[in-house]
Amino acid sequence: MANVPPIVAVFNAKGGVGKTTTVTNLATCLAAFGRKVLVIDMDAQGNASTSFAMSTLPRIGTYDLVTGKSTLAEVVIPTLFAGLSIVAATDDLGIIDVEVAISANKQGVLRNLLADTAGTYDLVLVDCPPAMGAMTVNALVSAHAVLVPANPTPFAHDGLMRTWRVVKRLHASLNPALFVLGVLITLAEDEHEDRWEIDRVIHAELGKLVYDIQVAHDTPTYVNAASHGLPAVVYAPTSPSAREHLDLAERLLAAEPRLKRVVEGLVADPPLPPRRSRAEAENQLAAWHADVRERGLFAKRMNVPEIGVEPTPALFGEDEPEAHGCSSRQLTIAAGLGAVIGATAAIVVPLLAAL
Ligand SMILES: Nc1ncnc2c1ncn2[C@@H]1O[C@H](COP(=O)(O)OP(=O)(O)OP(=O)(O)O)[C@@H](O)[C@H]1O
Ligand SMILES: [Mg+2]
Repeated sequence: MANVPPIVAVFNAKGGVGKTTTVTNLATCLAAFGRKVLVIDMDAQGNASTSFAMSTLPRIGTYDLVTGKSTLAEVVIPTLFAGLSIVAATDDLGIIDVEVAISANKQGVLRNLLADTAGTYDLVLVDCPPAMGAMTVNALVSAHAVLVPANPTPFAHDGLMRTWRVVKRLHASLNPALFVLGVLITLAEDEHEDRWEIDRVIHAELGKLVYDIQVAHDTPTYVNAASHGLPAVVYAPTSPSAREHLDLAERLLAAEPRLKRVVEGLVADPPLPPRRSRAEAENQLAAWHADVRERGLFAKRMNVPEIGVEPTPALFGEDEPEAHGCSSRQLTIAAGLGAVIGATAAIVVPLLAAL
């Protein structure tokens, strides 16, 4: 595919391991180093989309792009951070697997949708959902490399092994050029008693693929950043969390020649655009911090729910659903949706099994 920028999917089949946090902070750091970065939010949860200081989410985004309803130019939105743009997840993305199942041709392959944008973006980061649905397959089929955030906890280790099998299958079938950029240990908590044992196992199993840097557990920084709808590296640009993500960005910049060789099918290292120094990138994060402060974003709560904004429906108890206001028409629609979801499973499960 001519003129596609390197595409890195950030994926782990386990939920809550730090995929979105990695995407938002890594993308911001890469932009601070002077790279033109596009983030594509493939997860209906839309957490990446609400992490770039946007006061209102756009009406159109990834859903419209992959279903062919809008072009890339129509769905890309710039962020406050120069060089960093995003394609957001809107509510519609939540039903996309159902739609893909009933109209298989609609699934736009992300790599094709990014054709001829290599001059516009140096790098594309894709935030994947934890589930193995159509959007994850699309991201992994389109990506040139995968970055895998993983946690040193027992269940998360199982998730990492599951992730590995999925990536290996895709590599062996639909995307033979796909490679693993690295495994990033995140949410690393020194107090947790099995932490170092699991860390040792992950290193023994995956060797050099595991980055020599880790992202430490730091709830106040990440939770406060999320409440203001900001990447942690902008919320706290001199924190250890910012340093860790700048380190990660430097690892990715070091892998750029390989990425570009894979993308362009070259043997020799291709020329790269000039990058800023570490000190300049740190200054850029500090400047963005000052800018969002000036805009009053630290006085605003962005992702914190308020009681009563959304009506909370009563839970179904012993009463019939009609008693809670569900019309028979709504029940018919719900039954129809159930049938479509069943049909989706019938299509997606064999597809995944065939990979
Ligand atoms: N290093 C960290 N320290 C403390 N909290 C963190 C850290 N990294 C992420 N978190 C928090 O952990 C939660 C899960 O992180 P995140 O949303 O990035 O995971 P995810 O893998 O994208 O989840 P999902 O699979 O649901 O998409 C979030 O509340 C996030 O703010
Ligand atoms: Mg996520």
